[in-house]
Amino acid sequence: MGNGDDGHEGMLDEAMHTSEEVVARPREEKEVEKEKKKKPKATTTSRMSNQVKKRKAASSRGTTGIPKGLARVLEGYDIVRKIGEGTSGVVYVVQAKDDGQCDQTTNRFAIKAYKTVSKKGVCTAAIREIGLLRELNHPNVIRMNKVHIAQKERAVFLSYEYINHDLHEIIRRHVSQHKKIPEYTVKSLLWQILRGVDYLHSNWVMHRDLKPSNILITAEEGKSQGSAKIADFGLARLFRNTLQPLRADGVVVTLWYRSPELLLGTQHYSPAIDMWAVGCLFGELLRLRPLFYSHQLPGNTFQVNQMERIINILGRPSTTRWPALTEMDHWKNNTNNIQNYKPTKGKARKLESMLSMKKDCTAIHLLKRMLEYNPQKRITAAEALKHEYFQSEPYPGSNCFVENQMGKGPNNLEITL
Ligand SMILES: Nc1ncnc2c1ncn2[C@@H]1O[C@H](COP(=O)(O)OP(=O)(O)OP(=O)(O)O)[C@@H](O)[C@H]1O
Ligand SMILES: [Mg+2]
Repeated sequence: MGNGDDGHEGMLDEAMHTSEEVVARPREEKEVEKEKKKKPKATTTSRMSNQVKKRKAASSRGTTGIPKGLARVLEGYDIVRKIGEGTSGVVYVVQAKDDGQCDQTTNRFAIKAYKTVSKKGVCTAAIREIGLLRELNHPNVIRMNKVHIAQKERAVFLSYEYINHDLHEIIRRHVSQHKKIPEYTVKSLLWQILRGVDYLHSNWVMHRDLKPSNILITAEEGKSQGSAKIADFGLARLFRNTLQPLRADGVVVTLWYRSPELLLGTQHYSPAIDMWAVGCLFGELLRLRPLFYSHQLPGNTFQVNQMERIINILGRPSTTRWPALTEMDHWKNNTNNIQNYKPTKGKARKLESMLSMKKDCTAIHLLKRMLEYNPQKRITAAEALKHEYFQSEPYPGSNCFVENQMGKGPNNLEITL
């Protein structure tokens, strides 16, 4: 059964799988402290159950835990520290070797060391990222600099522009300070994410893993301060003229951001799955908690808890509004009796009351358009950018932290990006 709000805090880290500790302060500060304590941290190797795998992996790393091949391919740069770890790789920040002249905060970039699958070669996530990011170029999409290959270690490293925060951290910081994210910041972040998504979709790219930890935010002062960048293209793919059905790619999108059509086992899906995830992001920015969260069930089973959680808030999907519902595997087969699920008293909640907002406000209207059950009726990124929500004060800006005093309306602000 779907979960109520209780127990939510403990689940945040479980699903975000970025930093293990509460992200209440800038990443920089936390990392410095961690370095000082010198506590051994869980790494890829420590998660492996098999002893042989452990020994093999340990021998491919230097004494500092930095992969050996990485230090070799990055001559001229210092590996400063590890900044993140996800399912497909470990991310480090590196910096041009100090010649006594350069500012410590410049000349930095992020480098992802892919967790290679032994003997099977390079992982698909790396291939997807390299293939797509070398061509993408937009202010709201992460820029990849180079691909480094350590032939001896059969390892792949990708370097990107270094961005010092992610949205997950920003949300957690506000949670710990019991502060709402200012309206201007929420609007600007959403507007920038939508611009990035619109760019991707117009270029036939589906991201398939939009979530707070995959949205990076520049906080340093400078030209791109306060800009949001979509990162982690490990699940992304082109959706034009596909030779294989998309479903053959397996499970996509982190559970809490996964759309109903994916949960219900659709045969076909479209970029609308990214728009559902953007809706979940929007709700989370307003609420400082995920909108729909549940415990992940093991294996490749129907994630009934997640679907029920959605129904608790949005009501039951109807075949009138969504005729293709009858073609969804789990609906058709009535898996876990999903067709008859009714939230018990106390579980049903309305979006507007969850967010303490008025039913008729433009933010709720836009959010509901993103969380439309029928993917064909769900708002597109291009349409969302023209929504009334962005046509009123505070107008969104290219610096989500500092309101642009000059701009009057989103059209003017487009020039500044
Ligand atoms: N360019 C960057 N600059 C700064 N930090 C970054 C950068 N790229 C990634 N990170 C940090 O590293 C984390 C993991 O990176 P990324 O999401 O690309 O890896 P992943 O293994 O594909 O993750 P996932 O678990 O989402 O699949 C991010 O959530 C972010 O905090
Ligand atoms: Mg990620």
